[in-house]
Amino acid sequence: MSQVFDVERVLAELTLEEKASLTSGSDFWHTQGVERVGVPAIMVADGPHGLRKQAEDADHLGLGNSVPATCFPTAAALGSSWDVDLLTRVGEALGRETRANDVAVLLGPGVNIKRTPLCGRNFEYVSEDPVVAGELATAIVRGIQSQGVGTSLKHYAANNQESDRMRVSAQIDERTLREIYLPAFERVVTKAQPWTVMCAYNKVNGTYASEHHELLTAILRDEWAFEGLVVSDWGAVHDRVPALAAGLDLQMPAAGPRPDEEVVAAVRDGSLDAGVLDVAARRVLQLVAKGLPAVGSDDTFDVDAHHELAREAAAAGSVLLKNEGGLLPLASTDGVVVVGEFARTPRYQGAGSSQVNPTRLDAPLDALRAAGGELPFAAGFTIAGGPAGDDDALLAEAVSVARGAGTVVVFLGLPGPDESEGYDRPRLGLPDNQVALLRAVAEVNPRVVVVLANGSAVSVTGWRDAAPAILETWLGGQAGGSAVADLLLGVRTPSGKLTETIPLRIEDTPAFGNFPGEAGVVRYGEGVLVGYRWYDTRAMDVAYPFGHGLSYTTFGYDGVTASADGTDVSVRVTVTNTGPVAGAEVVQVYVRDPEASVLRPVRELKAFRKVALEPGESQEVSFTLGARDLSYWHPGLHRWVVEGGEFVVEVGASSRDLRGSASLTVEGEPLWGDLTPMSTIEEWFAHPVGGPLLQDALVPPADMPPLDDTMQAMILQMPAKVIADFGLSGFDREVLDALVAKVRA
Ligand code: BGC
Repeated sequence: MSQVFDVERVLAELTLEEKASLTSGSDFWHTQGVERVGVPAIMVADGPHGLRKQAEDADHLGLGNSVPATCFPTAAALGSSWDVDLLTRVGEALGRETRANDVAVLLGPGVNIKRTPLCGRNFEYVSEDPVVAGELATAIVRGIQSQGVGTSLKHYAANNQESDRMRVSAQIDERTLREIYLPAFERVVTKAQPWTVMCAYNKVNGTYASEHHELLTAILRDEWAFEGLVVSDWGAVHDRVPALAAGLDLQMPAAGPRPDEEVVAAVRDGSLDAGVLDVAARRVLQLVAKGLPAVGSDDTFDVDAHHELAREAAAAGSVLLKNEGGLLPLASTDGVVVVGEFARTPRYQGAGSSQVNPTRLDAPLDALRAAGGELPFAAGFTIAGGPAGDDDALLAEAVSVARGAGTVVVFLGLPGPDESEGYDRPRLGLPDNQVALLRAVAEVNPRVVVVLANGSAVSVTGWRDAAPAILETWLGGQAGGSAVADLLLGVRTPSGKLTETIPLRIEDTPAFGNFPGEAGVVRYGEGVLVGYRWYDTRAMDVAYPFGHGLSYTTFGYDGVTASADGTDVSVRVTVTNTGPVAGAEVVQVYVRDPEASVLRPVRELKAFRKVALEPGESQEVSFTLGARDLSYWHPGLHRWVVEGGEFVVEVGASSRDLRGSASLTVEGEPLWGDLTPMSTIEEWFAHPVGGPLLQDALVPPADMPPLDDTMQAMILQMPAKVIADFGLSGFDREVLDALVAKVRA
């Protein structure tokens, strides 16, 4: 089964029809084999936080059953660990399970940027920041692929919402695309070479991602040197011929005979270059050859060890948002009562194609009881929001359980149907019945710990005052329940940090007013101001800032220094665990360009490191930043540029908890563009060659009174051609054209 074939020999033997057939799947999950020349099919399966291998009843909506596999924490939770080493280990485990199940490619990870907290699929994505998303997804890809199976980096690109995802056109300016929506893909491709990249359903600036030559070829191949295969999202190809020409290699799933016939006809009539089809067919063969050794291996995986790893990861990805008076960790379970249906019925993953059939499932209530005996429990609410009467009775019961208790741990979260692939979230807040419960409980007992389960930010406005402690656990996978018990009881110390801002109100969010779009277009009007870039630049209040997360210990930052050698910047800081227990801190490095000539976010994360420290222990942490970390994308020059001058490096524990900064001066590159007749007088004057030439040519008529400041300011903004057309004092189009020629000479 796992015999590898010679790709070039096979390719040379294939007929045109066979080559065309290779460019789509043979069914829902398999590539097309060519028995005549000994090419078998390989299987791919979702992804991203666990294997969803369907035996029968294939679908991509998460309907049919799949084989048991470890349901690791969702990307939202994994990302919040900010832990590259941990994510590599989770990747390795995912790779082992994929291999053990004879699957060649696991369809993940997803690195789309969380543009709005309402995206139904945010739980499958890592962050609102491209460095965090790219760095952590790189670790996952490396881990998975170290096991000899592939990944599929998805959904390329700009699939930032589920509303109308199969048709909507994301209208994004060039700079925003380059600075926000592409870099996570770029980082993973250039650092980890995923075996495949999955193109998105949506259009980007009017063209389907599956037919987008600039995305699939000019950027992905020519700029980033991607070596793998481009697969479509399931059903994202509407016309395979232009898709192949744009750079797609494999349409999934099987689409019937028609697209194959169209490809054959297009090659025959010359409208599709035969070489293009060869390239795609070769890439499919290469993928099959790479994947085959994993298929048919008798590898197995250790279910218990993977469950333990899932537990470690769920704990590492939980974020302690608030802990007034050191309410957590609980000294013991004595006097603790548990409230909230989610303690008994955990929400641990989202809906859609990523749904895993877990090998086991830990409920928080069971885990707490296993650690501390028969703790009293009251459901408090129905997840679906039952008839008012039912919920009233549950609330009353919970209040009586909470009254007089030592501490009340209240499990709240979003109902499952709120978060799914295929549509967006209806609201930012928790359901009213849960907020009512919390308020009622807090009235009889102030010692309230809220544990949240949701796949993307929920509003805490209107209730956070009722809870001295809040632990955000996201959708923590199958071992999330025991991880919560570990954290509440201090067996583990929280160390997760927010990879997405928790806003105060939906009206504050960057995409508000430009989401989900209308008439088939969603305009990314906020430009590069996404996530904390938006809130920090606009100096807005937020509930909890990007990068925030508390611990049971505290950390001190000393001696932040930064020095530049050209555009290489070294940053150093010493971090000390100044509190009572061992813990881990995520050290964050932000860069700001205070003198930029374009709008730049007030700060942008460029590097981070998670450091584990014993009480009293210090560690010097160093980072090296490069030109790219100082650059912005110049839409006129169509490339990254470093604008010379002062830069400030800020180091801290969140985007709003900066513990030290250092300034440095960096020599940039000259930024004048090409001068044309339509360049303004100001642009001419800024040009080292054109400036003096124009100065000499622009001799004011002898009888003209001197220009006052207002006039001068007005003229600076005018194109040289307009001034030339006035024909004053011999400065006319002929003179101007001669100047342009001289500048270009
Ligand atoms: C999803 C992909 C998934 C594919 C296969 C699509 O609906 O968008 O993320 O990998 O189905 O299930």
